[in-house]
Amino acid sequence: MSKKILAIYYTQSGQMANIMAAFTAPLAEAGATVETLQIKPVENFKFPWTGSSFFSVMPDCVLGVPRPIEEPEFKQTEYDLVILGYQPWFLSPSIPCNSLLHNPAFQSLVKDTPVVTISEARNMWLNAWVRVRKMLKEIGALHIGNIALFDRHPNPVSFITIFYWMLTGKKERYLNIFPKPGVDEKDIAGTAKFGKIIASRLVANRWEGLQDELLAQKAVEIKYPLMFIEARAKPIFRAWAKIISSRKNQAPWITAFKYYLFVALFLGAPILLTLDAIFLRPFTVRRIAAKKLNYLQVNS
Ligand SMILES: Cc1cc2nc3c(=O)[nH]c(=O)nc-3n(C[C@H](O)[C@H](O)[C@H](O)COP(=O)(O)O)c2cc1C
Repeated sequence: MSKKILAIYYTQSGQMANIMAAFTAPLAEAGATVETLQIKPVENFKFPWTGSSFFSVMPDCVLGVPRPIEEPEFKQTEYDLVILGYQPWFLSPSIPCNSLLHNPAFQSLVKDTPVVTISEARNMWLNAWVRVRKMLKEIGALHIGNIALFDRHPNPVSFITIFYWMLTGKKERYLNIFPKPGVDEKDIAGTAKFGKIIASRLVANRWEGLQDELLAQKAVEIKYPLMFIEARAKPIFRAWAKIISSRKNQAPWITAFKYYLFVALFLGAPILLTLDAIFLRPFTVRRIAAKKLNYLQVNS
């Protein structure tokens, strides 16, 4: 197979690099040329984070403010397939990925080109996904497939473990009590099955129905409670981002947001979910199903 594939992504811990390696291995085995490229912000984000550096990027993430990235050096002028690996930051596309989607060279490269997206999240990836999907549509990419990986542990547990990971750089079990943070190794290795599906499609040069085939293999799973929380958090995050970015001295506002987030997640979310289960969910079954379906699709 003489097909050319570009796999482009950003990573701090290396998790997305591992995902891309597992995902693209079957493509390379099938004979395609896979060119792997990392997005490099001119001023990279320090990893591990400090508490304040972590929360300080929130306004730019949520408001979609791009930052300078090193000009990506593509070996080809055209590709048969582009694979974009991204992660959500504060329910938004991470700043490096958002910056790539604003890069004119990348925009013209993916125009009229088949694109598969793959995301790695703690577990709240829906709002970021909708924005990435919209941006790809606006720049004229042929968005043919999506895979969403996430940490399967309960929401409060992964909230604690991700902070341990992000603030120490160690993807290890916190206190030897908590589970390992991030996407499970089995799920990372399991992306090979999606790579195989794409390899056979690439050989046959047939993309229709790819997303359905990926969905049948559970490439995307939607958890209702997380979908509910994200929908409520979206306008609130936007309001916080606007308030913080309009202040000269942002530090106290960022601290206030941090405390808000802890209270909202550990107190607000369980209360709202209980009220929803009693008063709303039983009467909005159809609307919920339609929303879920929308998140599963690449073209909406
Ligand atoms: C600043 C920041 C904000 C994040 N916000 C979210 C989020 O809103 N939802 C989520 O599921 N994961 C979130 N994550 C986790 C990332 O999506 C990702 O899974 C993790 O950072 C590993 O990515 P890496 O390959 O770059 O190391 C966040 C991570 C960072 C660094």
